Amino acid sequence: MSDMNKMATQTIPLKPAPLPVGQRLLENGLITAKQLEETLVECKRNNQEAYLIGRTLVEKGLITQSELLNCLFQQFTQERAAHQVEPGVAAKIRFKGVEKSFDGRKVLDGLDLEIPAHKITAIIGISGGGKSVTLKHMVGLMEPDKGEVWVDDNRLGTISRQQLNTIRKRFSLLFQGGALFDSLTVSDNVAFPLRETTDLSEAEIQQRVERSLKDVNLAGMEQKYPDELSGGMQKRAALARALVIRPDIILLDEPTAGLDPIIEKAIHYLICDTFMRTRYTMVIISHAVPAVFDWCHHVIVLHQGKVRAAGPSMDIRNSRDPVIRQFINGDLDGPIQFI
Ligand SMILES: Nc1ncnc2c1ncn2[C@@H]1O[C@H](COP(=O)(O)OP(=O)(O)OP(=O)(O)O)[C@@H](O)[C@H]1O
Ligand SMILES: [Mg+2]
Repeated sequence: MSDMNKMATQTIPLKPAPLPVGQRLLENGLITAKQLEETLVECKRNNQEAYLIGRTLVEKGLITQSELLNCLFQQFTQERAAHQVEPGVAAKIRFKGVEKSFDGRKVLDGLDLEIPAHKITAIIGISGGGKSVTLKHMVGLMEPDKGEVWVDDNRLGTISRQQLNTIRKRFSLLFQGGALFDSLTVSDNVAFPLRETTDLSEAEIQQRVERSLKDVNLAGMEQKYPDELSGGMQKRAALARALVIRPDIILLDEPTAGLDPIIEKAIHYLICDTFMRTRYTMVIISHAVPAVFDWCHHVIVLHQGKVRAAGPSMDIRNSRDPVIRQFINGDLDGPIQFI
């Protein structure tokens, strides 16, 4: 077994889960033990998963939306502060010397990167710098001209189509353009991956679809067709579709682009909430700098077809590298020239 294989098959020891949200709300003095107990019983009676407790408390008017979201963020910040990637610890996805050119122009130029398992990783970098191309390589939608792409201990390009399809089923994807099916209603669009990849009953599918649409503030839009929605609503429906299944790895290309600031914040919370509940490996491409630093453990900066820097989000945020500083500050003058 190669060193890369060995490393890829080790598993990351999961840190103890942070306090359940209900417990933290209690500790923060936002609810009483009795209210927590009663809501838990109610959730169980309605056959709802326990994670819905926070939302149920909001619906009952016992706490506000921001109290719940701040509590969730507090949980995430606490665990993010402890994030370190130790050498030799398992990566979910690895690129080794990946090169990709289009029309003689090298977009990826010997890209080496690692996506840590069970973390949220953000990929940032200038527009046209190869972020979406990188994402497409992760699922085998694009093949490198040179170099290797690994998902766990599978090297893409060397496995059978059937194996590739099995791997793809472990991914959930939100493409940059959204890409809803125009001829399907919003509800059928979101139900699509559930019908394709699960044996859930129609009633269970409807329940999951409804929940997922509610999460992205699209309740009541089930029977609309994509062209009856605004651009931001289409984006949210596509995000609901990406989050409705229970995959292993979620890749989101610009999940908040084109959304208003309130929805943008709510979507960041939703991504974080999804992570806290599930511990999926998540990769987010985002131009929402610096906000994105608050919402991920790990950041990879792509520049000129290579990784310029990778590490815990706060390390990258405080980087002294002039390229990274110029990018974060949006300075027109600096090493990145575009005229
Ligand atoms: N299928 C393709 N055929 C030809 N060129 C392509 C193809 N896909 C991407 N490119 C080129 O590769 C480069 C990187 O594109 P990519 O979409 O990865 O950029 P990006 O970093 O995601 O940018 P943005 O932030 O604007 O979304 C661009 O110059 C683009 O024109
Ligand atoms: Mg892109």
